[in-house]
Amino acid sequence: MRIYVDCDPGIDDALALAYVTAQPDVELVGVGSVFGNNLVPTTTDNALRLLELYGRPDVPVARGAGRALAQPPRPALHVHGENGLGEVELPEPAAAPVELSAAETLVRSARSAPGEIDVLALGPLTNIALALSIEPDLPRLLRRVVVMGGAVRAPGNTAPLAEANVASDPEAADVVLGAGFDTTLVALDVTMRTVADGDWLDGLDRVAGRRAETTAAILRFYTDWYSGMFGVRKCAMHDPLAAAVLIDPTLVTDAVEVPVRVELRGEHTRGQTVADLRLNRDRTDGRPAVTLVGDVDGEAFFKRMTDALR
Ligand code: BDR
Ligand code: CA
Repeated sequence: MRIYVDCDPGIDDALALAYVTAQPDVELVGVGSVFGNNLVPTTTDNALRLLELYGRPDVPVARGAGRALAQPPRPALHVHGENGLGEVELPEPAAAPVELSAAETLVRSARSAPGEIDVLALGPLTNIALALSIEPDLPRLLRRVVVMGGAVRAPGNTAPLAEANVASDPEAADVVLGAGFDTTLVALDVTMRTVADGDWLDGLDRVAGRRAETTAAILRFYTDWYSGMFGVRKCAMHDPLAAAVLIDPTLVTDAVEVPVRVELRGEHTRGQTVADLRLNRDRTDGRPAVTLVGDVDGEAFFKRMTDALR
């Protein structure tokens, strides 16, 4: 399996990179950075640092978009820390980003191996939308796209109805969800019911080695923020759950195929992901369906997440 990761590291992005890099049967063909949890110089630098931490400094990192198609960035420093990695200082990376942008790199990778590459999209969808504008045939050149984003039957997180990745670039998300990729959407619907609890976090604290110990240290800032919100020691595992679903779709225990649009104009609803769940929906309007994940085998996921850090 060949995977290209587009991300905005970001603490849960870090866990997703840990998960992907730990799979022996996965070839990580490249990583694109995008603004989101932090500004793009920081997310790019973090991607490089994390790949070194996880033993893959050879994976090319391409710097992506610094802003959305139609709005300025709003970094989530309160969730991920000023440095995007919970104020844990990883060593300066030896590697530098490649010359091409993330959008160009994604197009080049897709053209070089038509139908073989899966994309794991963990940040705002700006790079993917830009890649589509360079190569409109991208949905046929990529095998699958798994997106962490959106909130369909669950509340939002950055706004009452909007999830951070989609709200950070609603125009790009609407383009990507309507482009005709074989798309799986791992939204807050499932990520907010598959949260790490105190027992799992304690278990991680007991795993020895630099990989696990540094990741546990990075996770502390994020867990403190989530625990404040939940009222108990817990944290969401948005991005690594999307990675796990991409690598093993049999983890999914409930899903529906529905077209999903993004609200672009609402005063209180901009960035909302609107799925047409009607039984009598118009199936001839041309909007392609995506696979919206409803539930997963959480126990298997958390075991695999710990194993990935050993
Ligand atoms: C998503 O937003 C980002 O803050 C996280 O990294 C995750 O990708 C969750 O809404
Ligand atoms: Ca992310």
